[in-house]
Amino acid sequence: MKKVLITGGAGFVGANLAIYFKRDNPSWDITSLDNLHRRGSELNLTQLAKSGIKFVHGDIRIVDDLENAGEFDLFVECSAEPSVLAGYDGSPSYLYQSNLVGTLNCLEMCRKRQADIIFLSTSRIYPMQVIDALQFIEEKTRFKLASDQKMPGVSEYGFSEKLPLAGIRSHYGTTKLCSELVIQEYMAAYGIQGVINRCGVITGPWQMGKVDQGFVVLWLARHMWNGNLSYIGYGGKGKQVRDILHIEDLYNLLRMQIDQLDEISGSVYNVGGGPELSISLYELTQICRDLTGHKIPIDSVFETRQADIPYYISDCRKIRKITGWKPRKGIKEITHHIHTWLKRNEALLKLILS
Ligand SMILES: NC(=O)c1ccc[n+]([C@@H]2O[C@H](COP(=O)([O-])OP(=O)(O)OC[C@H]3O[C@@H](n4cnc5c(N)ncnc54)[C@H](O)[C@@H]3O)[C@@H](O)[C@H]2O)c1
Repeated sequence: MKKVLITGGAGFVGANLAIYFKRDNPSWDITSLDNLHRRGSELNLTQLAKSGIKFVHGDIRIVDDLENAGEFDLFVECSAEPSVLAGYDGSPSYLYQSNLVGTLNCLEMCRKRQADIIFLSTSRIYPMQVIDALQFIEEKTRFKLASDQKMPGVSEYGFSEKLPLAGIRSHYGTTKLCSELVIQEYMAAYGIQGVINRCGVITGPWQMGKVDQGFVVLWLARHMWNGNLSYIGYGGKGKQVRDILHIEDLYNLLRMQIDQLDEISGSVYNVGGGPELSISLYELTQICRDLTGHKIPIDSVFETRQADIPYYISDCRKIRKITGWKPRKGIKEITHHIHTWLKRNEALLKLILS
């Protein structure tokens, strides 16, 4: 039996992980802590309760809230302001307080409780300038990486952990990279075990997609309910590319990592769908039209947003070599699953996602 604390446990990743953990390990004692900062996270509380997961309304910036969450021997850190645009329209204070100072508070709890840690980091720790310096070919529906790249860590498999780290990476990426470094110091100094996953785009049901985070859900929801969408930046044609990963595939990886923590502790992995699960916005539009039967006009904004990148695909060969993990759900299954969830929960979701 394990006692698990999941911070950000009412958010998309945290709530789904909590429910999958409980589904597969009914004897585990699982607590989700969340301050419900993200609009829509409150909708996850009903299914957490139904699954037998304890919910604590708490804030990782407040040490007492973490103390009051009870004992745990596995800590899964999913609480964050996860938008790469956060902080550019005003102060980045909330972002740094939550994503960095909050992580430090969580680590202190892990030190005191000698708990293992799984940290959800991000591909956005890699600097924009490094990615912008690559050569891309503009194809009919997407940007493609030119084959003769000289940058370390770049290949036809995507971007590996060897991608250079010097450069500007957004406030969000900075909070996550700093957190990674502090986590590694804690692990080395206090004998805590843990693993860091630099995730690309994760998606699936119960993601409250918005313009600056969660684009797959946003795209499908706006098609379904005839909302507004824009191709923003890179000429406004929707050719930017990301790899996507279903939340259950992330969970499957975490299960393997927990079982192998003795061997992999201290490691950092790029985690995502990889080249086979890569998609451009333009291509996603075609899928949304097919699934929903709706063709909505999509605006075009020529100017690129601050902190945006044209392309990211995770090279997951390092983690695959160790665990044998690879995603099982393809793009068709992912989008179909989200579409079904939107239809089933229209009354609940339309207000937030349309
Ligand atoms: N979803 C993705 O594509 C993706 C990709 C890479 C990394 N990640 C990381 O995974 C984690 C989970 O992301 P998500 O997609 O579930 O985002 P989310 O916004 O759905 O969930 C984050 C949760 O954290 C909560 N939260 C925010 N500040 C808090 C605080 N100070 N105290 C307690 N709770 C707080 C929010 O209310 C929310 O419920 C984040 O760390 C994010 O950076 C996500």
